Amino acid sequence: MTEITALKDGLLADVAAADSVDAVEQLRVGALGKSGVVTALLKTLGAMTPEERQLRGPVIHDLRESVTAAIVGRKAALEQAALDARLATERLDMTLPAQETPQGSIHPVSQVMDELAEIFADLGFAVATGPEIEDDWRNFTALNIPETHPARAMHDTFYFPDRDSEGRAMLLRTHTSPVQIRTMMSQEPPIRIIAPGRVYRSDSDATHTPMFHQIEGLVIDKGITLGHLKWTLETFLKAFFERDDIVLRLRPSYFPFTEPSVEIDVGYTMEKGQRVIGGSGDAENGGWMEVLGSGMVHRRVIANCGLDPDEWQGFAFGTGVDRLAMLKYGMNDLRAFFDGDQRWLRHYGFSAFDVPTLSGGVGA
Ligand code: PHE
Repeated sequence: MTEITALKDGLLADVAAADSVDAVEQLRVGALGKSGVVTALLKTLGAMTPEERQLRGPVIHDLRESVTAAIVGRKAALEQAALDARLATERLDMTLPAQETPQGSIHPVSQVMDELAEIFADLGFAVATGPEIEDDWRNFTALNIPETHPARAMHDTFYFPDRDSEGRAMLLRTHTSPVQIRTMMSQEPPIRIIAPGRVYRSDSDATHTPMFHQIEGLVIDKGITLGHLKWTLETFLKAFFERDDIVLRLRPSYFPFTEPSVEIDVGYTMEKGQRVIGGSGDAENGGWMEVLGSGMVHRRVIANCGLDPDEWQGFAFGTGVDRLAMLKYGMNDLRAFFDGDQRWLRHYGFSAFDVPTLSGGVGA
């Protein structure tokens, strides 16, 4: 009997001294496992006389229960201690300021689109959108570019192999002008929208990429004239380039969907060997740069959209957003826009906090 008491004291002391969950587990196997010392004692009960069993049984059972309880308790205590230690080292104070400032930046194209939306919102224009996968009716036919029209070939269109359910050829839109059609067909005039977005043409060099960005403008109302067009674009260009000395030259041009069509040139002057927008292009050290295509919306386009061209008139304009960004922020290779080069983005990108506002100067 004293042997068992001694065994119990020894085992309990060992368990209390065990300093890891593994050590406790080893003690458990040694005592309570298949060939453990306590298990061996339990096995002796079967061979005992009833008197002997009555005497030694409770002692042996008490041994087993005490050791089991000690092991379970010690294991739990060690696990809790390990958890506490881990929580202490992994502690994170979420209220501390970040050690590093955010690394991302706003791409110049996004920034310029935001600037354009801000300027035109001030003039009462809403932002409209359309899908990049278009049908040839909205991209061409409705815009007065019939199937045999040479302008279709000029657009270097990416076509899809299959037609849509209405039998129309599907393509990647070659300009944002189909948004004119979508807007006139879904909205009652008066209409004042801009439509920025991606467009696609099979073309690639320093100034052309297969995907680029355009912005479209459309005004449909009663009694709209070329004068409204000129004032709107002049006001826009002054706000965008943040200069009052912007001089416009309207040059006769041709687009199938506008009549008359005018190309908008803006004067630039040479400053330190660089072209800088502003001043008259006729000045001694100046010139003209084409920045926008525009014109009065063709009667046929208005009629194609189900509106009466005798009642409704309007103007439209379109230009490259990437080109506007290059002119304003001085980049010279369009391809770099879409390379995703971190150094370029860090140099030309904008802070997320640099939200364009008219009062702050849209590009400040
Ligand atoms: N869609 C024309 C282009 O891509 C631009 C334009 C738009 C011209 C609206 C006139 C009016 O070149």
